[in-house]
Amino acid sequence: MSSHTVKIAPSLLSADFANLAADVATCEQGGADVLHVDVMDGHFVPNITIGPLVVDALRSRTTLPMDCHLMISDPDRYIDLFASAGAAWISVHAEVTPHLHRTIGAIRAAGCRPGVVLNPMTSLDHAYEAAGDAEFILLMSVNPGFGGQSFIPGFYRRCERLRTWLDTNGHSNVEIEVDGGVKLDNVRSIVDVGANIIVSGSGLFRGDLAANIAEMRRIATA
Ligand code: DX5
Ligand code: ZN
Repeated sequence: MSSHTVKIAPSLLSADFANLAADVATCEQGGADVLHVDVMDGHFVPNITIGPLVVDALRSRTTLPMDCHLMISDPDRYIDLFASAGAAWISVHAEVTPHLHRTIGAIRAAGCRPGVVLNPMTSLDHAYEAAGDAEFILLMSVNPGFGGQSFIPGFYRRCERLRTWLDTNGHSNVEIEVDGGVKLDNVRSIVDVGANIIVSGSGLFRGDLAANIAEMRRIATA
């Protein structure tokens, strides 16, 4: 269990792309803390989704911070673009970011909160090395690329290990974000192993979005 406040971050990947502003408004009404924006380039991951133009279009429609999860092969080229489009948080994958220290610095210099993302089988060593610089570590609980996939249970062991390591090595300020397959029925066990930024797409957008956000918060904070 983390001492950090639980933050509910609906993933816009599951939104109605023809009515994004309406879904964003519903996220706000439901009490979301953050909007999770999945950026995919068709190269690092098979899918192609949202770019800076869409982030820029949404910025006037919401006061919520936009958490831009860059699933792209060359994130360094796009950090400034996402920052000036209105991203508040930017996270990059350790697997494709060879100069991670420099990239984190560039995110911070652009005025955003830097995060580092690890795929389900990427060594936690990357998180340990980044902990002094990144503000959050995003542990993927699916293989990135698509919404609606099944949660990979290896997440529990990894998250517990990372939370313990952060708390015993002077990095208790670093938050852990979870992304992939998070639903109302597993969020409690996910929070119990130390994640506090909760991304959920299909788990929130199927059914009553606002009610699901409120219910996820209730379960996660009970
Ligand atoms: C997957 C994305 C996720 C995705 C989660 O590559 O990073 O943010 O939208 O969707 P669900 O919650 O449906 O697994
Ligand atoms: Zn994501």
